Amino acid sequence: MRSKEPILEVKDLHIYFYTYAGVVKAISGVTFTVYKGEKFCMVGETGCGKTVISRAITNSIPKPGKIVKGEVIYYGLGRPVNILRLSEDELRELRGKEIAYIVQDPSSALDPLYQIGYQISETMYDHGMVGSLKEGILKAVELLKQTLMPDPNKRIKNYPHELSGGQKQRAVISMGISNTPKLLIADEVASNLDVTVQAQLLELLRRLVEKRPHPLLNHP
Ligand SMILES: Nc1ncnc2c1ncn2[C@@H]1O[C@H](COP(=O)(O)OP(=O)(O)OP(=O)(O)O)[C@@H](O)[C@H]1O
Ligand SMILES: [Mg+2]
Repeated sequence: MRSKEPILEVKDLHIYFYTYAGVVKAISGVTFTVYKGEKFCMVGETGCGKTVISRAITNSIPKPGKIVKGEVIYYGLGRPVNILRLSEDELRELRGKEIAYIVQDPSSALDPLYQIGYQISETMYDHGMVGSLKEGILKAVELLKQTLMPDPNKRIKNYPHELSGGQKQRAVISMGISNTPKLLIADEVASNLDVTVQAQLLELLRRLVEKRPHPLLNHP
């Protein structure tokens, strides 16, 4: 049963890109509410603004983009907070811990220079979820197991380029869920993969979010 308590409210969002060719009005007046325990899905054609809206939720629109108007109210902290008014320090606390964003392109989320076990561990260590990186790596094995990664004990020692697309996606999902965020934003996590892997990953996410409340799912 869906609770009527909101976890996120996006109000009258306007996002413009200030390019040399002129102003691109990517988003003009988007409003929606996500309730606790709800799976919320954004569907639309390419370029309609799904990624830009997802990024606005953690106030991380890349330049030359700018949120020119609107509010993003987050309710997970026990009081309503407008994310667009938070300082960089406050945002760092929020991102990854309260709200996790699994990006559309897994390669851009992984650092090519570090083993994936280390990268997952570091995400948890940065937010004080584990006492040491070593402890984090043990947890990373468990998280990878949950995402049905084959041979997680071996995979944690792999660098991103040693993983297949589906395996990279599993690593990024592990990172996204590692801090048990209250809101999970998954931006087309499976669109570049073959249909069998797509089905597996979506099923996996569905199972994972059932255990963890307040997910937000962008369309598959
Ligand atoms: N760096 C940029 N410079 C200029 N315009 C941009 C930039 N990034 C995004 N946009 C504009 O924002 C719009 C929305 O882009 P967005 O990436 O959110 O689309 P999307 O719905 O996620 O598409 P897809 O399904 O292909 O991922 C685009 O149509 C484009 O006009
Ligand atoms: Mg997109």
